[in-house]
Order: sequence, then structure tokens, then C-alpha cells
Amino acid sequence: ALSQKTIDIIKSTVPVLEVHGVTITSVFYKNMFNNHPELLNIFNHANQSQGRQQTALANMVYAAAQNIDKLESVLPAVVQVAHKHRGLGVKPEHYPIVGKHLLEAIKEVLGDAATEEIIDAWAEAYGVIAQVFIDIEANMYETAGAQAGGWSDFKELEVVDKVKESDVITSFYFKAKDGQPLPTFEPGQYITVKVNIPGEKYALNRQYSLSCAPGNEYYRISVKREADYQPNGKVSNYLHDYLNVGDTIEASAPAGDFTLNMEETAPVAFISGGVGLTPMMSMLETLVKNDSDRDVTFIHSARNEGVHAFGKEACELAGKLQRGSCYYGYQEPANPEGDHSFTGYITKEFLEDKISKETICYVCGPVPFLKAVVTILGELGVSGENIRYEFFGPAMALETV
Ligand code: HEM
Repeated sequence: ALSQKTIDIIKSTVPVLEVHGVTITSVFYKNMFNNHPELLNIFNHANQSQGRQQTALANMVYAAAQNIDKLESVLPAVVQVAHKHRGLGVKPEHYPIVGKHLLEAIKEVLGDAATEEIIDAWAEAYGVIAQVFIDIEANMYETAGAQAGGWSDFKELEVVDKVKESDVITSFYFKAKDGQPLPTFEPGQYITVKVNIPGEKYALNRQYSLSCAPGNEYYRISVKREADYQPNGKVSNYLHDYLNVGDTIEASAPAGDFTLNMEETAPVAFISGGVGLTPMMSMLETLVKNDSDRDVTFIHSARNEGVHAFGKEACELAGKLQRGSCYYGYQEPANPEGDHSFTGYITKEFLEDKISKETICYVCGPVPFLKAVVTILGELGVSGENIRYEFFGPAMALETV
């Protein structure tokens, strides 16, 4: 355990580091990738160049340090990140590398203010925090490997079908290249896809929600083609343009804790924006497969008819439920007279008669969408515990976005 003195030093220096947060982590990443370019096979370069992951990792180290004497309180956040780490293949031997470069960056940026005492305290605290991650991740690797058909690192999956779902979203169906059955997973989980794109020096990893229920012979992901001028668009454009039936990718086993709790029986709503509907498709199909008698409401918001994926499939699935309903709307409908439940954004008035205080709401989509919907749900009296959300991109508390 850390001494009280160490704890005091940590707590009193967190605010100082937070002030320099972005500078420290920019220095940290720059030096770390200089000394360990192989780590660029794991880290997302797009996040790096946008500075998003920078703040995510730094903020979490500070948050954990601030709570160093009661780390249980940050465990849920740690578990979420640990899922990501496990999916990306982060290993125990990587932690000292991150620790060393983080400490050196702190020293460099703080200059004289970084006394030996302070640096030692942070080294100790980092060690404690890293061990929490390492232990949780060890468990996750073991669980992933122990599943029927499971594997703990990356494995080759073969494309068995490729289906265009909308102008921008295409589904890929995978089976294991070695013919093994694919392990089960929890609806809402994602797989990490690793691709080597010709002309790219390092492998690129992206995490995509599975858009089908567990228990099928295949895994399905449904990928949105990002604008190709964005660094983040490299992989999605590559998949859309070059990954065809018979080709293979490397993937890690399903991970993630934004999952449908199958024990609960309260009414449930799935509210998604854009490609955020992919985990919802998995959850919805799972309820249908289980012949659930839950009250289920599926609500989807798309920019227009052209980019709307699974319009038919989602409503057909909801229609198979004993108590299922399905709504979709468009921000800018191409045909204002056409079939849709709402125009513009999802509003409080629209949700009012579809969501009760008891409804458990799963929300997924881009940040502005999430912010708006989570706020409305709060106004409708849904408790924080029953508002479960995930957005695509590095995790950050909504308030900080
Ligand atoms: C992502 C924290 C150690 C590799 C993240 C995220 C956080 C975080 C908060 C963002 C999660 C998200 O996007 O949802 C930490 C903390 C660490 C640690 C507190 C140490 C105690 C490591 C290590 C590695 C690593 C040792 C491997 C070298 C990554 C990668 C991502 C990530 C590759 C995905 C984001 C990206 O590619 O930019 N980590 N991490 N992390 N972490 Fe860590």
C-alpha cells in the first residue's frame, strides 16, 4: 500500500498536472513513439493526430491518482478501458513503457517543480494503477481464450458475405478461417479489426460493434464509410473498397461492457443516431431470438433516407416481439411526405409518450446526439442508472466533450 505521505503528494499535485495535461501527454506520446515505434501497430494514429486519445489517457491517470486511496470508485471506468485494451492486445509488458515515458514527460514539462519526491510518488502511484489494469486484463484474456471457439489474441476471420445496407453503411459477415465455431458474446459488444493496408507503415486497428445476435454461425459488423479525407476514414474506406468475400482480416474476440442485461425485465428502449444503431441491432435481434416478452421500443434517427440502414430489418424484428414498436426519422428527409415517424432531431415531445420513468434506455450515436438524448431522458425522469450510453470514439465523460 502507498504511504499517507505519497498519497498526499499525489493528491496535491494532480491539479498541477491537469493544468499541463495536454502538454505532458503530447510530450509523452512523441517520446514514446520515437523510442517504441512498434507501439504504432496498436495505437490509433487518427486519435493521436486529433489529440483525443491524448486527453483520454491522461485524464484517466489523473482521475485514478486522485482516487488512489479508493480505487474501487474508478473501477467501472477501468473495466471499460480494460475491454478496449484487451481487444487491442495491450499486454503487461507495455505498462512500464507507458509509465516511464509518462513520468519523463511530467519531469520535462514541470521542470524544477518536479522534485524527486514528487516523481517518486508518481512512479509508485502509476505502478499501483497499472497493476489494477494488468490484473483485470489478465482475467479478460483468459476468459476470451477459454470460451468455446474462443481465442485470446488475434485470429483470422474470413468474409463470407458483404451487403450494402445504405449509401454509407456496408455489412461484412465473417466466419473463422480455421473453421472453428465463433464464440458467443454479449449483445452490444464489439470486435477489434486489424488491417495492414498497402502503403501504410503500421497496422491499423478499429473497433466495430457486432450488429447481429450471438448464436449465429457468423459475426456481422456494419461499417460506416467515413469521409476519406479524415484520418479516421482510412480503415472504413479500405474495408468498403477492398475487403471482399473470401478475403480475411485479423480480429480479436468480442469485448466491451455496453451490453444488454438479459436479466432485466423492465421496458427497454434502444435509441440510436446514425451508425450508432449497430449494437442496438444486436440487442434487438437477441430479444427476438429469446422470444422476450419485454416492452421494447426501437427508435432511430438518420440524416436522410439514403444513409438509413436496416430500416426494414429493425422494424421487422421489432414486429416479431410480443410487445415491440419501431420508429425512425430523418433530420433532412429527401421526401418530406415519405414514410417516417419524425422529422428533424429527436425531441422531448416525441419521446414523452414512448418512454416512462421505468424504461431502461440504451443510447448510441455521435456525441451531440448522445448529449441531446441523455438530457431529454433525464428531463423525462429516467434515472442515471437506467440511461446507458456508448459513442464511437475515445471514451470521455459526456461533460468533458
Ligand atoms: C485507450 C487509459 C495504459 C494502449 C485508453 C483510453 C484510456 C486509457 C482512458 C481511452 C479509452 C477509450 O477510447 O474508450 C490508460 C491508462 C493506462 C493505460 C490509465 C495506464 C495505467 C496503456 C498501455 C497501452 C495502452 C500500457 C499499450 C501500450 C491504449 C490504446 C488505446 C487506449 C491503443 C486505444 C486508443 C488509441 O488507439 O488511441 N487507455 N491506458 N494503454 N490505450 Fe490505454
